[in-house]
Formats: sequence, C-alpha cells, structure tokens
Amino acid sequence: MRRGNHGGDDLFSQLCRATHEDGALLSEQDIIDHMSFLMMAAHDTLTSSLTSFIGELAANPHWQDRLRAEVLALGLALGAPSSFDDLEKMPLTEMAFKEALRIKPPVPSMPRRAMRDFSFKGYAVPAGTAVGINPLFTHHMKEIWPEPDRFDPLRFTEDAQRGRHRFAFVPFGGGAHMCLGLHFAYMQAKCFARHFLENIEVSLEPGYKPDWQMWPIPKPRDGLRVRVKAV
Ligand code: HEM
Repeated sequence: MRRGNHGGDDLFSQLCRATHEDGALLSEQDIIDHMSFLMMAAHDTLTSSLTSFIGELAANPHWQDRLRAEVLALGLALGAPSSFDDLEKMPLTEMAFKEALRIKPPVPSMPRRAMRDFSFKGYAVPAGTAVGINPLFTHHMKEIWPEPDRFDPLRFTEDAQRGRHRFAFVPFGGGAHMCLGLHFAYMQAKCFARHFLENIEVSLEPGYKPDWQMWPIPKPRDGLRVRVKAV
C-alpha cells in the first residue's frame, strides 16, 4: 500500500518509495532496518532525555520557574505553533536540556572496534579489540564537571562551554558518526518544553528520589512519579 504513490510525507511512506541510484525500490528488510534504527535513535533517546529533563525540573523548581518565564515571554497564544525564531529565543531551556543530557545521556555507552593498533594511557590496544566509549563516565568526571550530580544549566553558558574539551560533552557521540538528528532533537525538546511549561507545573513528593536504571537507555524504574498541576 505505502509502496504506491498515495501521498504521505511521513518518513515511513518516504522510505517505502525511496529508490537506489539505479531506480530500484529499497528491499522490505532495508525499510524494516531503517525504521527499527530510527525508533531507537530518534524516539527512545528523546523519550529518555525528556523524562530526565522533567525529573530535573520537578526537583529544581527554581529552574522550572526560570524556564516558564522564558516560555511565557515569547508571548504566544496557548497552543499556537512555535516558529524557528521562537525556539531561538529559548536559550535557558536549551541549556537546561543539555544539562539533563549531561547527567543522564540517553546513549550511556557506545560500542566500537579498534581499526588499527593504538595505545591509550600506556595500554596497548591491538586492532580488532572491542572498545566501549562511555559518555556517562565522561559526563561525571569531577575534574571537568565539578559536583557532577548537581543540576546546573549554567554549565552551558557560551563562556562556560568555550573553555571545555570538545569531547567533554558527548550525548550525541562525536566524529564521523555523530548524531544526524541533534539539531532536530533540540528543536523537539524546546517545542515540548514550551507546551509543557505553559500548561503544567510539575513537582516531586517530599522525600521521593527517582530510581534510575541507566542501561541500555536510562529510564526511571518506577515510571517517575511526579505531581502535576495546571498552571
Ligand atoms: C536526545 C536525542 C538524541 C540523542 C541523545 C542521540 C544520540 C545519538 C548518538 C550517541 C549517536 C551516535 C551513535 C554512535 O556513534 O555509535 C547517534 C547517531 C544517530 N542519530 Fe541520534 N540522538 C538523538 C536524537 C536523534 C534524532 C531525533 C534523530 C533523527 C530524527 C537521530 C538520528 C540519528 C542517526 C541517523 C544517527 C546515525 C548517524 C551515523 O551513523 O552516521 N538521533 N545519535
């Protein structure tokens, strides 16, 4: 059905109609592989990071208020769409989302294989060795991130970012296969934050500390029990 030219500009329909350079359609297995990859790469990463973002805003009401003030200052009618320009005017929201990505990177570790022999900190690593890259570890290195468990979006002011190693913050990986969707992810996060904050106030029950499972993708074991109230 989706193979035919019945319209539909969603990604699944487009993949069904996409062709190789010789004009042949993608095989069904190719389409399944692309869709499975995207559900993990684009959907699960966002659901994980938006959940930790909301958890941090619930635990840090002062930041929640600051972000809500930024959202309300846009002066948009309730439910009206957000333009690219509106999203540009949400720097604090972007900083707070980055801080949530730092504390709980949705891809906490990445598998790699050494292409050639190399050494790292005195350890010889022969070609072919499986190597685990661990953003979760990097994001909690005290020498780079003082008080690493503290939620502090000010770590992402332009000034603060300038002096930092370029691989100190790697929620989207790095190098040739760095996330293709990272700008889209920030846009989605800001759209979400805008609609959420203009409608909802979120808080944690006193004494409640969410318990997170970090692998393979961070998620709260109990579903994150928050209190919500209409703004
Ligand atoms: C907060 C949200 C996201 C996070 C944390 C994230 C994280 C990552 C990471 C760590 C990688 C590199 C994996 C590796 O090197 O092994 C990656 C790759 C990728 N991501 Fe994302 N991602 C996010 C959202 C998205 C979205 C929304 C899309 C698409 C709409 C997307 C599409 C991709 C693609 C296509 C790749 C593969 C790039 C390549 O291999 O050349 N991601 N992502």
